[in-house]
Amino acid sequence: MLETVVKRERDFGTPASISTQTIQITIDGTEVDVAVGTSVMRAAAEAGINIPKLCASDNLEAFGSCRLCLVQIEGRRGYPASCTTPVEAGMVIWTETPKLHELRRGVMELYISDHPLDCLTCPANGDCELQDMAGVVGLRNVRYGYNGASHLHDATDDSNPYFAYDPSKCIVCSRCVRACDEVQGTFALTVDGRGFASRIAAGQNDSFLESDCVSCGACVQACPTSSLIEKTVIDMGQSEHSVITTCAYCGVGCAFKAEMKGQEVVRMVPWKDGKANHGHSCVKGRFAWGYATHQDRMLKPMIRSDISQPWREVSWDEAIGYAASELKRIQSKYGRDSIGGITSSRCTNEETYLVQKLVRAAFGTNNVDTCARVCHSPTGYGLKTTLGESAGTQTFDSVMHTDVVIIMGANPSAAHPVFASRLKRRLREGAKLIVIDPRQIEFVNAPHVKADYHLPVRPGTNTALLTSMAHVIATEGLVDEAFVAERCEAPAFQQWRDFVSQPENSPEAMEDVTGVSALDLRAAARLFATHGNGSIYYGLGVTEHSQGSTTVMAIANLAMATGNLGREGVGVNPLRGQNNVQGSCDMGSFPHELPGYRHISDDTVRAQFEQDWGVKLQPEPGLRIPNMFDAAISGSFKGLYCQGEDIVQSDPNTQHVAKALASMECIIVQDIFLNETAKYAHVFLPGSSFLEKDGTFTNAERRISRVRQVMQPKAGLADWEVTCALSNALGYPMNYSHPSQIMDEIARLTPTFSGVSFKKIDELGGSVQWPCNAEAPDGTPIMHVDEFVRGKGRFMITKYVPSDERSTRKYPLLLTTGRILSQYNVGAQTRRTPNVLWHSEDVLEMHPHDAEDRGIRHGDMVAIQSRAGETVLRADITERVQPGVVYTTFHFPESGANVVTTDNTDWATDCPEYKVTAVQARLVSEPSTWQAGWSRFSDVQQSLLDGRQREGQKLEQPAATPAQPAQPITEPAPILSSQE
Ligand code: SF4
Ligand code: SF4
Ligand code: SF4
Ligand code: FES
Repeated sequence: MLETVVKRERDFGTPASISTQTIQITIDGTEVDVAVGTSVMRAAAEAGINIPKLCASDNLEAFGSCRLCLVQIEGRRGYPASCTTPVEAGMVIWTETPKLHELRRGVMELYISDHPLDCLTCPANGDCELQDMAGVVGLRNVRYGYNGASHLHDATDDSNPYFAYDPSKCIVCSRCVRACDEVQGTFALTVDGRGFASRIAAGQNDSFLESDCVSCGACVQACPTSSLIEKTVIDMGQSEHSVITTCAYCGVGCAFKAEMKGQEVVRMVPWKDGKANHGHSCVKGRFAWGYATHQDRMLKPMIRSDISQPWREVSWDEAIGYAASELKRIQSKYGRDSIGGITSSRCTNEETYLVQKLVRAAFGTNNVDTCARVCHSPTGYGLKTTLGESAGTQTFDSVMHTDVVIIMGANPSAAHPVFASRLKRRLREGAKLIVIDPRQIEFVNAPHVKADYHLPVRPGTNTALLTSMAHVIATEGLVDEAFVAERCEAPAFQQWRDFVSQPENSPEAMEDVTGVSALDLRAAARLFATHGNGSIYYGLGVTEHSQGSTTVMAIANLAMATGNLGREGVGVNPLRGQNNVQGSCDMGSFPHELPGYRHISDDTVRAQFEQDWGVKLQPEPGLRIPNMFDAAISGSFKGLYCQGEDIVQSDPNTQHVAKALASMECIIVQDIFLNETAKYAHVFLPGSSFLEKDGTFTNAERRISRVRQVMQPKAGLADWEVTCALSNALGYPMNYSHPSQIMDEIARLTPTFSGVSFKKIDELGGSVQWPCNAEAPDGTPIMHVDEFVRGKGRFMITKYVPSDERSTRKYPLLLTTGRILSQYNVGAQTRRTPNVLWHSEDVLEMHPHDAEDRGIRHGDMVAIQSRAGETVLRADITERVQPGVVYTTFHFPESGANVVTTDNTDWATDCPEYKVTAVQARLVSEPSTWQAGWSRFSDVQQSLLDGRQREGQKLEQPAATPAQPAQPITEPAPILSSQE
């Protein structure tokens, strides 16, 4: 286990050289070989000699401001700074001489004379580089006294909820400024003033909270003193031990060092050796972990016979027994297929695997699905069809080798911030950028990053746009003929070429459909096809359409036609939303696929699972989530086990979902909070947070990373243990004593995982990218290198079929949805952190022209109505959206964004068309009928929770018993009536 004593990771002072050429130098009498371009400081560090330093750090370019790292070089005058001096062949360097000691002590004297001497009470005591360096240089006294001009009484800025800036501790080393520029790419900080007066300023001397700072924490991490420091460290002091684990927020999968005091987290520090993040983080993983101990955590199992009844807290045994007996009762009354399960993309691979196993082996049905149904299922279908594997092709690091990037239907700086920082770095180095998005995302015009082309595609017309891009490539001789001839199926390519070359697919013909200038589109297509390594990064703005699968295939076509697959710097990269959505798909969460994307109808594969699991499996695919809802309403689907997923808030057409849930007889929700879905539940099983369990998450790069328990499960059991208990109660034994055994079983049954084990992951430094098997024992960073997984790549015809959802006279605007940096998905976690300071409600973005037409001003309450429903949001009048398009997020349940979205879906996968809803908007003065009903229903459910019978308390309400039939639903009538 990677458990460490808390200490700073080794810092070599300057970044490693990428040169493969070496030269010989001599340091303190020892000859060493170093890479060309290495600094003297780094060369010394690599040889085990630590030169004192303050302004240098190996994740930042050398700056040379503190003058502590001086060295002597034979044949050279003076005392050069080792951090800014590159090695030269034959150099003879001395790092410790009496003169150097004297000079360094002098430098430290100046720093210390303007520094509060409060080390004993300073929160950084013991973790302060200034303190360390004073010791290293042997500073014993300060000759200047402390009475001169100083900054000792400068006021602290504690506006940021997570960290404070105390200027009195600042040594103006500029590490924070450079971290914000170089690592994060936000450019929020500057050194204000000159000489002695210089100080760090956020924005135009704003507070940190008012500035452009996005609270990523890079500056805090870079600060060598306690000038920038986490408030939790101020409150709790230094940590005692640490554990390496993986962030549970987004699909970047950043590795963190959880620094602990007993069972309490002191801070989460991005791990320098994390292969997805290399020591960087965003505000969510770095700071927004307080939800794990929030007072709203539900820690006792509860049951009730009817959602109009108060909850009753019971023992784990009673809750599991009740759930199992209800599931059996329903199956005996309504048939085997009347129940099912939903796996979680937030839980570990091992937990997800167990839930699908429970459904297939213990329930005896294939009625299992996952939230990827509503996000990236078209990625699975589209990439499997064209390339043969339904996952992204690259590492995140690969972007550092790209020359031209397409970002399509994704907003990386909000949803995948650490990847966004790396991409910005590459763009600052000169790579070109094409943004395809109806909205002006940050990348269109960020500090020091400007898109070469922004193609503001009309929602619902992605396929038309990409096909016309392909038209340019095919008709202007820009196809990589050699790649296509060697790597792709010839007949399919020829058909595709004929198809895209048709005049009706030209940019000019499509201009009216897509709303994108033909001139810009032609130029963008030429740039992508001719500018070296081309990579495509896309998100839910591609998949969540009725043509989502077609657009994914169009992306794969584009990459194949331009030869941009199978090496560094290129590829097709779906940016996965939730932390383990890749893993939940890999683990067999779809009703038609066993782990490793193998079809349930394949007799050989099924037989292998049947033998291992000791049970007969159904050969027919089960119900997808939307089918489960329809079946519930029609009366044939009656019981659901839903782990770590809030389908009421996250799935489209909320009223339809609510009606489906209200029609069921037993809903078992396992979650850390009583979420919107749990308001319809009969059994509540407390979930555990990522800090409380062992396992693995798989990120968007196919990287399987270890999740390590840093504290005991607050409710007594980790999620995987609960699933095992339920399975055992149903009569299908599951006996694992540790999640590593579950991974061993996954590896045994899944060819792409056959080399994976917890031991292997630890040996490889904490993560491995699948496929990991006999052919690729250390994993597969880049897919499709010599040939595609399916052999030859297959071009697919991507005919544009317009969505049924179009703007009309009644609904003239198109609503599209997305995310914001500070909130995550349904907001259940981030709403319970100070992140609400940045985003406390979902708003409706609207172009000034559309607002003016309707007499709407910034901040007004606006009703948006679609054919599915109506909700009311505050207006944010902005040119980020184009005329005719409105935009919102879905992080707060009361916003009801999904009350408005329809049940249109992707033709191949049933992924909902969240990104295109025809709506009308009008000025109103009060919440919608749905919102009023939601409030009443929530109040009732809260009172049923508040009035719950605690464990050991005398019964006041009739207890729910396994034999008791479900009661008629008296609530949530207000919600349902708003739709009828
Ligand atoms: S927290 Fe991040 S964005 Fe904010 S100032 Fe520091 S480095 Fe810049
Ligand atoms: S705040 Fe910290 S990192 Fe920034 S200049 Fe001051 S001492 Fe250096
Ligand atoms: S980028 Fe994603 S994985 Fe990384 S810290 Fe932020 S939320 Fe966590
Ligand atoms: S570390 Fe080299 S000048 Fe500061």
